Amino acid sequence: MPIEFAERIRRIPVYPAADGYALAGDVAMLASNESPYPPIPAVVDAVAEALGGLNRYPDPTSSALRGALSDRYGVPVHRIAVGNGSCDILLAAGEALLEPEAEIVYAWPSFSVYPHIAAASGARAITVPVDGEHRHDLAAMLQEINAATRLVIVCNPNNPTSTALPLDELAAFVRAVPRHVAVILDEAYCEFNLLQDPDESIELLDRHPNVVLLRTFSKVYGLCGLRVGFALCGSEAFRTAVDQVRQPFFCNAAAQAAAVEALKHQDEVARRVERNLAERLELEDGLRRLGLAPAESQANFVWLDLPEATSSAGTGEREIIRGLAERGVLVRAGAALGRAGALRVTVGTAAENARFVAALGALLE
Ligand SMILES: Cc1ncc(COP(=O)(O)O)c(C=O)c1O
Repeated sequence: MPIEFAERIRRIPVYPAADGYALAGDVAMLASNESPYPPIPAVVDAVAEALGGLNRYPDPTSSALRGALSDRYGVPVHRIAVGNGSCDILLAAGEALLEPEAEIVYAWPSFSVYPHIAAASGARAITVPVDGEHRHDLAAMLQEINAATRLVIVCNPNNPTSTALPLDELAAFVRAVPRHVAVILDEAYCEFNLLQDPDESIELLDRHPNVVLLRTFSKVYGLCGLRVGFALCGSEAFRTAVDQVRQPFFCNAAAQAAAVEALKHQDEVARRVERNLAERLELEDGLRRLGLAPAESQANFVWLDLPEATSSAGTGEREIIRGLAERGVLVRAGAALGRAGALRVTVGTAAENARFVAALGALLE
């Protein structure tokens, strides 16, 4: 007799992670929206120092990190949650808020972990297609909110479509959502968003106890290998709920030390944002020269529909992905992200981006 697993195991989709990590050699890793730049030396030193204390469990309250986040963002410590990556907090939010008969609303395509949250809890997932410009359709999302809704997620900028909404539209949306519904604004890429200062959305928390801003050290800080993220919460109740459902010591000692140090180097964050912007503009120009029209990105990645002729000529998305991989370039297939016939490409170094554009050009010829 095979092992009998819980029903929900059959429902939980497999996360479409890149499979290039095992590849050795000269590969352009443009599939996971990582930073192409290594952590700064001061952060590496902080991690090295933390390693000497690994015989102890990490601080279960992450007090130094939460204190540093409180100083940086002006949100009281009791309203700051940290986690083993921001995904950890997302999954915990699903566990704390959702159950069968409850509903979760999010846009699609959006971050691949959202379907997991619904499936794991048995809640109904209500997905609202992004509009013709690949942006969240907030009016349509609002229409889907009812007495059963427990959680709404708005990913801004949106992964995978790269677009962002201005804060006034988000603020109006949040005002219209009933108070019993938790609203997570997933801001994993907010530092790259040039439509507004990433500190501006924090003011939503003062007026809306049901709002949570989810952020991470995985992207602009380049620390995804350590797994550390955080949530700035409108209420202490959200923070205590997500802490309650998780195992103790959910944020490891090296991650806490790295994040505390990384926060001290906001000048480096600004530099990385600038570099990403310069490389993204170059990458977008290269794509336009190939006759492609990337979505309006406010992130460290771009999203593009492949030309219709690609599929009619038999060189579908899968062939393109394979052809790129053969040329040492890994990108994410739209089909894995909810929209066939598209690609999501992380902005890498200038050389990686040029390699991608050249390889794609050759494949589309
Ligand atoms: C929109 C979004 N949210 C959250 C995350 C999770 O980041 P982490 O768990 O590494 O903090 C990602 C990672 O790709 C993402 O794209």
